[in-house]
Amino acid sequence: MDALDGCLKQIKEGEVKMFNEENFVKEFTDFVKSLDVSTAMEIGCQSGELLSPLFDAGIETSGIDIYPKIDGVVQADIREFKDKKKYDLVFSSGLLEHFPIEEIPDIIKKMATLSKNYVLNYVPNSGCIAYMNNKATTSAEWKDELAFTIDELEKLHKDAGLEVVKSGMTGGEWAKKFGNEPSEPYLVWVLAKKPTNEKSVDKKPVNEKPSKKSKKTKEV
Ligand SMILES: C[S@@+](CC[C@H](N)C(=O)[O-])C[C@H]1O[C@@H](n2cnc3c(N)ncnc32)[C@H](O)[C@@H]1O
Repeated sequence: MDALDGCLKQIKEGEVKMFNEENFVKEFTDFVKSLDVSTAMEIGCQSGELLSPLFDAGIETSGIDIYPKIDGVVQADIREFKDKKKYDLVFSSGLLEHFPIEEIPDIIKKMATLSKNYVLNYVPNSGCIAYMNNKATTSAEWKDELAFTIDELEKLHKDAGLEVVKSGMTGGEWAKKFGNEPSEPYLVWVLAKKPTNEKSVDKKPVNEKPSKKSKKTKEV
């Protein structure tokens, strides 16, 4: 964790502009604490905003990012990254939606190779009307990112050979930053586990499209 000490200090001292909405950070931290993990690795950790509260909770934290925003984060592309160490939890937030849909199961598989137990992913919720309306009109870089239902995100984890443990929605307050429309929360998430029979996470690429949208919703 030493390598990340500096970046976590920069966040705490307000030197880095916050990306996350603060209620989400709390919801995320409380959820991870409930999993009783000792080590966690974030893929696409940017400036370590989600690693900082986990570190404060006594979890040994690590992070990689293809374009790190601060010193201390290991610069690496998840598609190439190898690590001898395995982590109780490997997670991402705001990462998967930037890949073509057919590549996502392979990214999740890659995350699973770094994990001893859990893989956890947060992505935009296609049922969040305020976010979807905002996305339809913005010219910002994130206009082309994907959005998902819980069912679609679950299927991508199953396609990667993982067992879904739990799924849900979070980021109710964050949704309000996109607009005043009554909306579902901004994010959907899936917590998955490596299967008991490890052989089902094989090394073959998956390249399979997710099923059509369903109306299934779950609250955290
Ligand atoms: C929306 S940001 C994530 C924010 C982060 N969860 C946080 O709380 O600050 C997505 C991050 O994923 C990183 N990223 C994109 N493609 C990646 C890849 N192939 N490997 C590793 N990181 C990647 C980007 O550089 C970016 O910092």
